[in-house]
Amino acid sequence: MTDYQNPEYQGPEIPDDLRQTIKRLAADRDAVILAHYYCKPEIHDVADFVGDSLGLSQEAAKRQAKVIVFCGVHFMAETASLLCPEKTVLLANIDSGCPMADMVAPEDLAKRKAELPGVPVLTYVNSSAAVKALSDICCTSANVVKVLRSMASDKILMTPDKNLATYAQKLAPEKEVITWPGFCPTHHRLNLKEILELKAAHPKAVVVAHPECQPKILAETDVISSTSGLIKYCTESEEKEFIILTEEGVLHPLRKKTRGKTFYTPKTPMICPNMKKNKLLDIVKALETLTPVIKVPDEIRGPALRAVELMMAVPRD
Ligand code: 13P
Ligand code: SF4
Repeated sequence: MTDYQNPEYQGPEIPDDLRQTIKRLAADRDAVILAHYYCKPEIHDVADFVGDSLGLSQEAAKRQAKVIVFCGVHFMAETASLLCPEKTVLLANIDSGCPMADMVAPEDLAKRKAELPGVPVLTYVNSSAAVKALSDICCTSANVVKVLRSMASDKILMTPDKNLATYAQKLAPEKEVITWPGFCPTHHRLNLKEILELKAAHPKAVVVAHPECQPKILAETDVISSTSGLIKYCTESEEKEFIILTEEGVLHPLRKKTRGKTFYTPKTPMICPNMKKNKLLDIVKALETLTPVIKVPDEIRGPALRAVELMMAVPRD
């Protein structure tokens, strides 16, 4: 059992002096702390804003602070750097990468594009800036279908997540989506037998899932949405029991936002080890040393930013 599967778990108590140190350093540096929902509860509790990929990009773009401390994974800090070149963007833990983003290398995408002349590329934000720079437009899980529909071409190459691409294709059958063989190990590993058993054990529970899960899992669900979409659904729903098929970090905001609701999770832990690398002391160190800086080189920034800005112009769900 993971810590998150215990309904009482709220993360370790944050010592007052540590909390004060983070507050003081952030004020001294004119810094804002942004965290993804998949980070640890104690990171949520010191962050100025907790969100999903799209929400974090929007927040980075609108904040006035000089420094952004990003608690998430590398591609997210890169996206913040694309959107705010004038700000110093720090990734709290430099080792926090995304295995799915690493499943598409720019050289391989360039090769595939050459094989598919005239086919535009839609790239999930979970990708490097170099891959975004080779793409026509980006999407997140919150806007994938709207972005796909907004594209003029009938045929589209989508990278890197084959599960998200298959999900979007199903909702936009008028498009022909060519998939890339990438996936998120945290969501992809769910096994069907276990989900069927969980559903049988909790027949009243609404099954909610992130579209990074495999199609055979999504076929067993009631609600499919982005991280913030799932949190919103469970918070606002009249239902009392939910089976949560996404990263367990969402359980902390869900328990904080709701009363009298029960959240079940599969036995196979849905934990993103990279998101969990971000620690409170990493935030302190980043603020003290103003490192590690994530800065996208200018030649990549131009085309990558274009793909991200085109995405941000499409309204979210
Ligand atoms: P969203 O934040 O877009 O829901 O994506 C989940 C994810 O895997 C982030 O790495
Ligand atoms: Fe990457 Fe999956 Fe972790 Fe998100 S949850 S950062 S897609 S490995």
